[in-house]
This record gives sequence, C-alpha cells and structure tokens, in this order.
Amino acid sequence: MNPVLPDDLLLLQRSVRQFVDAALAPLAKQVEERDEIPRSAIDAMAEAGLFGVGHPEGWGGQGFGKLGYCVAVEQLARVNASFWNIVGGSSGLCGTAIAVGGPDEVRRRYLPQLLSARKIGAYALSEPGAGSDAGSLRTAARRDRDDYVISGAKTFITNAPIADLFVIFANAAPDKGSKGITAFVVERAAPGLEIGPNDEKMGLHGSTTAQLFFNDMRVPATQRVGDEGDGFKIALATLDFGRLGLAAHSVGAAQRLLEASVEHARTRAQFGKPIAANQGIQWLIADAATEIHAARLMVYDAASRADRGERITQRAAMTKLFATETLGRVADAAVQIHGGMGYMRELWIERAYRDARIARIYEGTSEIQRLVIAAGLLADA
Ligand code: CAA
Repeated sequence: MNPVLPDDLLLLQRSVRQFVDAALAPLAKQVEERDEIPRSAIDAMAEAGLFGVGHPEGWGGQGFGKLGYCVAVEQLARVNASFWNIVGGSSGLCGTAIAVGGPDEVRRRYLPQLLSARKIGAYALSEPGAGSDAGSLRTAARRDRDDYVISGAKTFITNAPIADLFVIFANAAPDKGSKGITAFVVERAAPGLEIGPNDEKMGLHGSTTAQLFFNDMRVPATQRVGDEGDGFKIALATLDFGRLGLAAHSVGAAQRLLEASVEHARTRAQFGKPIAANQGIQWLIADAATEIHAARLMVYDAASRADRGERITQRAAMTKLFATETLGRVADAAVQIHGGMGYMRELWIERAYRDARIARIYEGTSEIQRLVIAAGLLADA
C-alpha cells in the first residue's frame, strides 16, 4: 500500500497517465505550433473525466475530491501545460467559484455542463488596474429591476476566446470597497459582452487568453453567484483551490523535466563519459528530485486537509509558492543539463521552460503568496 495515496487514487493516477501518454502526448507539439487545443482533445479529456475529477458526483463530477484532482492534474501536466490550463480555468476556477458561491439553482444550471466540458468556463477577476490588488477592481454592477447592468473590463482571462460562460466579479456597492464585490455567471451571448483578440504570450500556447469588455452588459439577477457583496470572498476562496491545482500542475511538469534530464545526463557523453558522471550535474538532479518530492507532499497534504473540510488559505499559498518556484528552478536546470539542445525548438524543453514562467505570476504572484502566508501567521500571534 502506498503510505500517502489510497488505492483508488493510485488507480486514477495510472489511468490518467495512460490516457495522457496515449491521447495527449502525440498532440503536444501541434498544440504549441497552432496555438490551439483541438476540440477532439477537449472531448477526449472530458470523456476521461478530467473536467469533473475533483467535483462531487451530485453535480456531475467524478467525486475524487481535491486530492484526486491534484493526482490527476499532476499527470495531465506531463506533456503540455496548456492541457491543464484549459481544465484549470474552466472546471477548476469557473466551476469552483460556482460550487463555492451557489446558490443551488445556479450550480444545477451550470456545473453539469462545465464538468462534462459541454460548456467551457472562464474566471474573470483581474483588471488592467487591479491585478495583485484584486479587491480594488473597478468593474461596476448597477441593479436595474430584475437585472444588473455591468460596465468595465477584465484582462488576461484564460479561456476567454473559447469560453461559453464566465464567472465575473463586479462591484455593486463601490462605497463599501471590496465588500461590494459581487459575482455573476455571464453567458457568451450576453448583450454588451465583447471579447478582445487572443493575447500573444511568451508561452502556454494552446491555452488562449483575452480581454473582456462589458458595455452596459445586462445580466439577470438570477445569474448572481452568492449574495451581493460576497464576491471577493468567493474569489479568494476559489483561488485557494486554484493555487493548489497550479501547485499540482507544477509538480507534474517538474517531474517530467527531471525524468528527461536524468535520461539525457545518462546518455549524453562528453570527455569520454556520460555527463551524469559529473557531480555538477548530479547535484542539479539531486536538488530537483528533493524539491519535487517536498512539493508533492505539500500538495497532497493541503489537498487532504481541504477534503476534510479545513480552510487551506495559508497552506495553499505555501504550496503554490514552493511548487511553482521549484518548477522554475527545475526548468532552468533542465535547460542547463540539455545544453544547446535545451535551447532549441526541436526539443520540448525550451517550451516547458517558457510555459513554467507564468506559474510564479498567475493565480497570485510569489510575492502575494508570501503576503498571504505572513498574514495568517501574524493574525494567529
Ligand atoms: N477565503 C475566504 N475568505 C477570504 C480568503 C479566502 N481564501 N482570504 C481572505 N478572505 C476574506 C478576509 O477574511 C476578509 O474578510 P473580512 O473583511 O470579513 O475580514 C476579506 O476576504 C478580504 O481579505 P483581505 O483583507 O485579506 O483582502 P486584501 O484586499 O487585503 O487582499 C490579497 C488580499 C491576498 C492581496 C488578495 O487581493 C489576493 O489574493 N490578490 C491576488 C489576486 C490573484 O491571485 N489574482 C489572480 C487572478 S486569477 C488568475 O490568475 C487565473 C488565471 O489566469 C487562470
């Protein structure tokens, strides 16, 4: 028996690994080059249960909980970061915000569609003037009888070019500061919703991103997620789980880079011996393996606590901080170990290196994670 994971999750781990190797690995290069994940791959991921893995069966999920979600994400991360990003933006962030905020009527309307990927979701919090300081967002929601009229803009929204629905955050009572923030589900066809062109990014090609513009966009009040004024807490509670998923992704991506580095170090010979014979290379590999092991245990610990109903704000921040920084170091070491080939488009290492860079920025920068960790410690003092 595995001391950390129960048998059903070991089975899940194996089946996701097989699916990823068979169905997604052959597409990894094409996704990078065309900057698009084929709809058939999204359908295959849905068929494999990857959009619903962590959500309860009652809402159309697979019922494996947060730990199961992390185990699956770790495997999904092995071939191209964009495969996970589409899941993380859709059922991860958008679906979790609906699950966290409710009410049941909204959950019933949208979760089964999101968790089966019949609809793709996006989570729209960031604005041009409100990134790390998300509580100062300026998008405004004005109540007009049975509707809200929303005006403003969102930026860097993962999945926006392909999403069918969006959880957006707008302030319905600006005089109350972040306590006026309210969440809504907005369908793509909403009058007044405009989606900008695809952003051109350093990496994560295949996972599309765009701006949103709300031009007096009308949203029925029945599309509200949670109560008026609850939006910021829903946003932050959702990010606790988003950060955990990103940490799991980072562990899987780093593990794959480590395996490739070990293989290359064993087979690449210079000065008449494999480069693995050099302590300089051994230390890079040893440090990478040690940090990945620690990050993985942090992920499993935080996820297990979440499944037991504990609030994981600080642990999710620690885990996201350490796992994404680990991925950055491991990706850098992988390029170094692969030498000139590590820098060439011919190999996937340079793509993984570019893809890794965003992990320390989105879903809260490393600096914001440190603020969250410190706030928890100082509040308890
Ligand atoms: N769960 C529930 N409630 C929470 C919470 C959580 N995790 N964290 C804080 N709260 C509550 C607080 O208790 C507080 O409630 P009270 O007012 O009743 O006491 C309220 O929410 C406000 O909290 P703070 O006072 O701590 O808020 P703040 O304005 O000082 O900001 C912050 C806190 C940690 C800096 C926050 O703004 C933050 O996390 N910023 C980073 C934003 C971020 O991660 N953006 C990522 C965008 S999404 C993305 O990247 C996705 C993608 O592309 C795929």
